[in-house]
Amino acid sequence: MSNDDRKDTANHADAFVFFGATGDLAHKQIFPALHSLIAHGDMDLPIIGVAKAGWTLEQLRARVQDSLKTHGIPEDTAAKKLLAQLKYIEGDYKDEATFAMLRKELGSSARPMHYLAIPPALFGEVVLALGKSGCADGGRVIIEKPFGHDLASAMELQTKLRSVFADDRIFRLDHYVGKEQVQNIVYFRFANAFLEPAWNRDGVAQIQITMAEKFGVNGRGSFYDANGAIRDVLQNHLLMLTAMLTMDAPTAHAEDAIRAEQTRLLQSIRPLAPEDVVRGQFRGYLDEPGVAPHSNTETFIAVRLFIDSWRWAGVPIYIRAGKCLPDTFTEATVLFKRPPVAIFGDKPTARSNYLRLRVSPTGTIALGMRRKLEGPGMKGEHVELISNENVKDALSPYERLLLEAMHSDPGLFLREAGVEAEWRVVEAALKRPSRLHVYEPGSWGPAASEALTAGTAGWRTPGPP
Ligand code: BG6
Repeated sequence: MSNDDRKDTANHADAFVFFGATGDLAHKQIFPALHSLIAHGDMDLPIIGVAKAGWTLEQLRARVQDSLKTHGIPEDTAAKKLLAQLKYIEGDYKDEATFAMLRKELGSSARPMHYLAIPPALFGEVVLALGKSGCADGGRVIIEKPFGHDLASAMELQTKLRSVFADDRIFRLDHYVGKEQVQNIVYFRFANAFLEPAWNRDGVAQIQITMAEKFGVNGRGSFYDANGAIRDVLQNHLLMLTAMLTMDAPTAHAEDAIRAEQTRLLQSIRPLAPEDVVRGQFRGYLDEPGVAPHSNTETFIAVRLFIDSWRWAGVPIYIRAGKCLPDTFTEATVLFKRPPVAIFGDKPTARSNYLRLRVSPTGTIALGMRRKLEGPGMKGEHVELISNENVKDALSPYERLLLEAMHSDPGLFLREAGVEAEWRVVEAALKRPSRLHVYEPGSWGPAASEALTAGTAGWRTPGPP
């Protein structure tokens, strides 16, 4: 959508309703994003929080103030506006009266935007109640991943969503897509022509993605235990990152071209085979509150993926993600093939030529290469040509995505077919879970994950060499 189209406000949301207003996500992400949107003049509409917490509006306001303070946001004009725009509905999501109150609170709003920051198991029920009460009329809905629990439940959820909202009114949010540096992957790849000739099975030896988190489940034990690393980050964030890295160029003038290519790419990923999956659980996980005593849930996942397309046939994509690893970052590295003949006596390592894209928590684009050492002879050294070293996102993912949804632009949200393709990739790994290996907190996960990269130079140490 162009900036000019944005001036047409006829399609803009005119009320923001968010379910789960007293929850963790609201405190961590949504209040700071709303503050920033208000500060930029992008959110001049009623903000209606809904939750069942036994709270009053004053308590919710205090929670907003605490969230802003925690994020180092001053009590400025935007903060005051946010508090003034805030309304609160206390009620059970299973109770029709809650939705009757919401309908009343919406008043003359003709285009409400409903955001569900609630446990995914409640999505279907809440959406149906929105429809029945009339709250969905003219409205749109934003739901967060995981969209369903597996392929079948994702399709079931989709049927419920579609019985209330038209497809272009359903915004499936994966916050990784809203990250500045994830958007930059698409920009960088298709705003420069030099990469394209090598960006395929002829030029690329393999791709690696590491999503490491130093922390554990941080009090989210019961949520996490019901999901695990495959559902929590692989099926969504990391497959989307893979799609951004490997999709074909979108056509310039077609409507929704980027999403079309992403979806096509997701559909061409080969479903994971058991021998391509290694699961791990950090020692001590079973003692976390909310975790089942003998839980078989993985807190670490490593996989070897293949894309069955002419561009990528035979190129392995290694992905690993885990809690309690040595550091916190997400980084993708596209490793190019070595020169076919080693002309200079020095031995270039297998790691010499690559493009390294760090996307979180800060952004880096680095091109790894060899250059001649100054002086006599033809000896070389490894260097990185760096752009964007450790830059911070100017816009938080939630700010970007809420703004897009408010303007009714679906471009950064997932299509139903994309979500289903993601589930197809992990379906067998979920239905027939592979053996769970215990790993030590602070390590790079179970040693078994090394076997996946056998025959290559192994997992790359993230960051500069
Ligand atoms: C969330 C997962 O979707 O993404 C969390 O539920 C994970 O477990 C988080 O920690 C990571 O997001 P970010 O933006 O902090 O890298």
